[in-house]
Amino acid sequence: MLVAEKEIAARVAELGRAITRDYGDTNLVLVGVLQGAIPFVADLMRSLPIALTVDFLRASSYGPGTTSSGIVRLVADLSIDIAGRHVLIVDDIVDTGHTLAALKRALEARHPESVRTCVLLDKTGRREAEVTVDYVGFAIPNVFVVGYGLDYDGLYRNLPHVATLEGL
Ligand code: IMP
Ligand code: MG
Repeated sequence: MLVAEKEIAARVAELGRAITRDYGDTNLVLVGVLQGAIPFVADLMRSLPIALTVDFLRASSYGPGTTSSGIVRLVADLSIDIAGRHVLIVDDIVDTGHTLAALKRALEARHPESVRTCVLLDKTGRREAEVTVDYVGFAIPNVFVVGYGLDYDGLYRNLPHVATLEGL
């Protein structure tokens, strides 16, 4: 086990307070990155007592296995127009940064008021693409992790905590 359920809950509450402070009632758009960000978005949105809209998109940067391809495809798009809106991209983890960098670029091209990023986990030592991560839950070492949305070949997303694949 790397991050326990209780630690996640406490940190999500802290992130919620920071985001609430920063955005207030601007009706921000939380953009969850399917499928990994599902538990994180579900918990985070309930720690935000402000006006907000939730939407999702799906990116694909990983084939089967544990290595990043560096190629990011938008597999499913948002259902709303984000022009003039404050956008917060919420993802499970930033690893090489290719996914978040590409998503941020793609959404910025739609003329939103602002685009920021929020991830539960940050593998700082692995960065290849330059991207600012505005809200980070936990910095973790370079180990492959699963649980709380994170998968290995589609499995383990339903674990309530974050564990190393090795440790399972
Ligand atoms: P990046 O483009 O290399 O930053 O990778 C981002 C995406 O890769 C994340 O949204 C995850 O879906 C996936 N990913 C990266 N590291 C891990 C991991 O340790 N476990 C599970 N998925 C991961
Ligand atoms: Mg993902």
